[in-house]
Amino acid sequence: MIEAATADRVKLKPGDTIGILGGGQLGRMLALAAARLGLRCQVFSPDPDSPAFDVVLNAACAEYADVEALELFANDVDVITYEFENVPAAAAMILAARRPVLPNRKVLETTQDRLAEKDFVKRLGIGTAAYADVTSAASLHAAIAKIGLPAVLKTRRFGYDGKGQAIIREGDNFDRVWADIGTKSAILEAFIPFEREISVIAARSANGEVECFDVTENEHRDHILKMSRAPAAIPDALALEARRIAEAIATALDYVGVLAVEMFVLEDESGPRILVNEIAPRVHNSGHWTLDGASISQFEQHIRAIAGWPLGKPVRYGAVTMTNLIGDEVLDYEKWLTVPGATVHLYGKGAPRPGRKMGHVTQVEADPAQK
Ligand SMILES: Nc1ncnc2c1ncn2[C@@H]1O[C@H](COP(=O)(O)OP(=O)(O)O)[C@@H](O)[C@H]1O
Ligand SMILES: [Mg+2]
Repeated sequence: MIEAATADRVKLKPGDTIGILGGGQLGRMLALAAARLGLRCQVFSPDPDSPAFDVVLNAACAEYADVEALELFANDVDVITYEFENVPAAAAMILAARRPVLPNRKVLETTQDRLAEKDFVKRLGIGTAAYADVTSAASLHAAIAKIGLPAVLKTRRFGYDGKGQAIIREGDNFDRVWADIGTKSAILEAFIPFEREISVIAARSANGEVECFDVTENEHRDHILKMSRAPAAIPDALALEARRIAEAIATALDYVGVLAVEMFVLEDESGPRILVNEIAPRVHNSGHWTLDGASISQFEQHIRAIAGWPLGKPVRYGAVTMTNLIGDEVLDYEKWLTVPGATVHLYGKGAPRPGRKMGHVTQVEADPAQK
C-alpha cells in the first residue's frame, strides 16, 4: 500500500484544510485551535449530533464504511487526523492512499488493542502491570493463577471510561465474570494499588522534536476522569522519568501529533515507581488544563505538529486544575460562570446523560514566584 505522502512532506499554509475523523468534544476543540491559526477544518463523523460539526463550515456525516464519503472527504482536505483511536483500519487505509494521515496508521494498530499496546511498551523496557492474554474461561483461570488477585479483566478493544472492565477478587465466580465481559479477546492485568495516577501529554513533530507538558495528576470517579491538576505533586526526578517515558513512546511510534500516556505511580520499599497504564494516540481529557493554564494548548500543539509547523514551547501559568462537568453537573454552568478565575468550556452536547462529558472548568492559581 502506497501512502499518499509522508509526514515530513506536510507543510500547511494558513487557509489550508485539516480533516478530522470523529466529531466529539476533542474534535471540536482541535477545530477551534486550528481556526485561531488561520487553518480550516472539515469534520467526518457518522453522528449527526456531533459537537464538532457546530464549529466548522464543512461536515461530512457518513459511516466510516462509506468509501465514497471517505474519498470525497480526503479530496477536500490537505492532511487528515483523528480525535479517537478506534478509527476502523479499512477507513484509515482508504484515506492514507489519498492524503497523509497523522499520526500514522501503525499507531492505531498498536493502540487499538490493549495486548498489542502492552507488548509494545514492554518491548521498550518500560514497566506495566503484569498482564496475560485471555481468550476463554480456561485461559482466565490460568491467567489468574499466574498473575494473582485482585486483577482487572479488560476487553482488548473498544474500552473507554472504564467500560469493558471488571475487577476480579478472591472468591468471585470467574466463569461468571468471563461470561459477563462478553468477548473472546481480553487481557487480565494485575490490580495496581497505585498511590496516584498521572499522565504526560507529549507532542512530536515530523522532524522528531518532542515537547511534553508538565506532568498532570488525575483523579477518577466511577472510572471517569473527574479532575486533573498540573503540575502533579511528585518529586522532580519522577516527573522527569514520566516525561522520558512519554518521549520514548512517541519516538518509537514515529509519532506526529499529540499523544497522552496514562501512568500509575506506585510506592514500594525502594521508593516511587512508574508503570504505564495506557496510551491515547490523540489529545486527551487530562490535557484540557492547557487550554487556559498554558501559553499553548494541547490542541494547538497537535495542529502545529500535523501541519508541519514548529511546536510551541508551552509556559504554564501557575497551578492549574481542570474539573470535568459530567452528566447533570453541567446544569450548574451558571454557578461556575460566577466563580472568580474560572474558565468554563461547554461542549454543546444535547441531553446530559449520566457519565457523559458535557464540559469542563479550568482554574489557574498564579504561581507567586512568577508574579
Ligand atoms: N491494572 C489496574 N490496576 C488498578 N487500577 C486500574 C488498572 N487498570 C485500570 N485501572 C483504573 O481504571 C481506570 C480506567 O482504566 P484504563 O485502562 O485507563 O481504561 P479506559 O481509560 O480506556 O477506560 C484507570 O484510570 C484506573 O483508575
Ligand atoms: Mg484510561
